[in-house]
Amino acid sequence: MMKRLLQMKCFACIKCCSKDVKSVDADLAGFADVKVNDNMNKGKSFSSQRANVAHSFTFRELAVATQNFKDVNLIGEGGFGSVYKGRLESGKVVAVKQLNLNGLQGNQEFIVEVLMLSLLRHSNLVTLIGYCTDGDQRLLVYEYMPLGSLENHLFDLEPDQEPLDWHTRLKIAVGAARGLEYLHCIANPPVIYRDLKSSNILLDNDFKPKLSDFGLAKLGPVGDNTHVSTRVMGTYGYCAPDYAMSGKLTTKSDIYSFGVVLLELITGRRAIDTTKKPGEQNLVAWSRPFLKDRKKFIKLVDPMLQGRFSMRSVHHVVAVTAMCLQEQANVRPLIGDIVVALEYLASQAETFENHKSLTTVDSQPSPSKQDEDHTRDLST
Ligand SMILES: Nc1ncnc2c1ncn2[C@@H]1O[C@H](COP(=O)(O)OP(=O)(O)OP(=O)(O)O)[C@@H](O)[C@H]1O
Ligand SMILES: [Mg+2]
Repeated sequence: MMKRLLQMKCFACIKCCSKDVKSVDADLAGFADVKVNDNMNKGKSFSSQRANVAHSFTFRELAVATQNFKDVNLIGEGGFGSVYKGRLESGKVVAVKQLNLNGLQGNQEFIVEVLMLSLLRHSNLVTLIGYCTDGDQRLLVYEYMPLGSLENHLFDLEPDQEPLDWHTRLKIAVGAARGLEYLHCIANPPVIYRDLKSSNILLDNDFKPKLSDFGLAKLGPVGDNTHVSTRVMGTYGYCAPDYAMSGKLTTKSDIYSFGVVLLELITGRRAIDTTKKPGEQNLVAWSRPFLKDRKKFIKLVDPMLQGRFSMRSVHHVVAVTAMCLQEQANVRPLIGDIVVALEYLASQAETFENHKSLTTVDSQPSPSKQDEDHTRDLST
C-alpha cells in the first residue's frame, strides 16, 4: 500500500491564474484576523502590522540591481523562474526571483508569497524585502542567503566542497524545525507550509537555516475543523501519502515532509533520485526496512560523514525521523516536541565535536573502528 502511494506521480501545482496582482489589498483582507504572536508582536492582528508590508520596486530598479539580469549573477533556477544576486541602490545585497511567465507556478503563488512573508516574521524564515509588479513582470526580492540552499551542501558535492558535519546537520534540522514551529504554533491561525524540502531551506554564512518559498502555504484549520481541503500540491518525494490521497491538509503533512528532510540529512541522498537503480530512487521507500530495525540504522548514514558522529545521536535522530514518516498522520509527533528533541541532540553533538577536537589525531580511532564502536553502542 505504502509503496503504491509513494509511486504516485507528482502533483505539483499548477494553474496560472489571471488574477491581477494589483488586487493584493483585496487578498490582504482575508488575512486580517491573523495574529502574529512572536515576542515583538504579541497578540497584534495582521492589520496592525501593515507597516511591515514589503516594498514595491520598479522593474528598472531591479534590472539595475542585477546588471540587467546578467548570467554571471544567476544563482539558481526553480519552478517559479530564475534567481539572481543583486545589489540595491542602498548597497544591500539581495536575491531577486523573476517569475518565468511561461512557468508552472503562477500569479496565485506570487500573491500568497508576498502576503505570507509580509505577515510572518521569524529568524528561521527568509525575509521578503520587496516585490515588483510592473506590467506583466512578477519579481520577488529576498534577503540574500550566502550559502544557498541545503540541497547545494548535501548532494553532488564539488571535489573541493566539504561535506556537512553531523553537528551542522543537526543545527540545520533544529533551525528548520523552529521555523516550522513558528508557522504551526505561533501564527494564529496556524500556517501549513506545504513545500518543505531541502531546496527551500536556505543557509546564512553560519549555516543558520531559513525556510523560503511560501507560495503554496495555506492558513490552517480554524475552530473545530481538523483539516483544510485543497488541490493536492507540493513536491513529489516530500508529500505526505495521506494528503496526496485525500487532499486533506493538516500540519501533520508538514511533519511528514520534515521527516523526509531529516532523512536527507542523515543519508546524504535526495528524496527522489532517478539516477539511482530501481528500488533506491524513492528515499522513503528505500529507507523503510532500515528504519524498522535498530541494528540497521547504521546503514542509513551518509558515507561522506566517514564515521565522524556519535551513533547514539544518529540513533535518536533516526527514531525521530521514523516517527515523522509514519503513514498514519495523527500519530506523527507535534513540531514542538520535535524541536525539544532535536535541540537536545544538537547540544549533545556539539559536546561530542568539542571533545573530539581536544583529542589528538593519533588517539582517534579510524573510521572503521568507529563503526564497530557505534554498532556496539546501538546494541546496548
Ligand atoms: N534568498 C536567496 N538567497 C540565495 N540563494 C537563493 C535565494 N533564494 C533562492 N536561492 C537559490 O536559488 C535556487 C532556486 O530557488 P527556487 O526557490 O527558485 O527553486 P527551488 O526551491 O529549487 O525549486 P521550487 O521552485 O520547486 O521551489 C535555490 O535552490 C537557491 O540555491
Ligand atoms: Mg525554492
